Amino acid sequence: MILGIGTDLANIERIQGTLDRFGDRFRNRVFTEIEQAKAERRADTAGTYAKRWAAKEACSKALGTGLRMGIAWKDMAVSNLHTGQPVMAVTGWARDRLDEMTPEGHEAIIHVTLTDDHPWAQAFVVIEARPAGQPD
Ligand SMILES: CC(C)(COP(=O)(O)OP(=O)(O)OC[C@H]1O[C@@H](n2cnc3c(N)ncnc32)[C@H](O)[C@@H]1OP(=O)(O)O)[C@@H](O)C(=O)NCCC(=O)NCCS
Repeated sequence: MILGIGTDLANIERIQGTLDRFGDRFRNRVFTEIEQAKAERRADTAGTYAKRWAAKEACSKALGTGLRMGIAWKDMAVSNLHTGQPVMAVTGWARDRLDEMTPEGHEAIIHVTLTDDHPWAQAFVVIEARPAGQPD
C-alpha cells in the first residue's frame, strides 16, 4: 500500500545563489558527505545539489511533515546505486516519522526519482508499505 507521496521543484539558479552566498555553511547544514562528494565532482554542481534539495523536500511531504524550521535535513539522504538509480535513506526524526506511519507487520520502502533540465530540478518520492518479509 502507498503511505505517502511528495514532489518538489527546485530552481538550480537559486541553489547556485545560496551556494555562492553561504558556501560550506549551506552545504554542511543540508547535505551529507556522500551528497557533497557527488555534487562537487560533477560539472553541474548546483544541479546535483538542487536535485537532492528537491528530494529532501519531496520526502518531507511524503512523510506528511513538510519542512519545519530546525529539522535536520541530513536525516533524509540521497545516494546512488552503481546503476545510477537514486535511493533515499532516513535517520533521526525522519526515521521516527517513517516508523510511526508504517502499519504493524509491514516494512516501509522509499522510492525516489530525480530529474533536471536547467533551471529546474525535480523529485518525486513515494513511500510504500509491504508486508514484512515479502520479497521485492
Ligand atoms: C538514467 C538516465 C535515463 C538519466 O537521464 P538523463 O536525461 O541523463 O538525466 P535526468 O536529469 O533525467 O535524470 C538524472 C537522474 O536520473 C537518476 N538515475 C540515473 N540512473 C538511473 C537508473 N539507472 N535508474 C533510475 N534512476 C536513475 C539519477 O537520480 C540522476 O540524477 P543524479 O545522478 O544526480 O542522482 C540516463 O543516464 C541513462 O539512460 N543512462 C543509461 C544507463 C547507464 O548509463 N548506466 C550506467 C551504469 S550501468
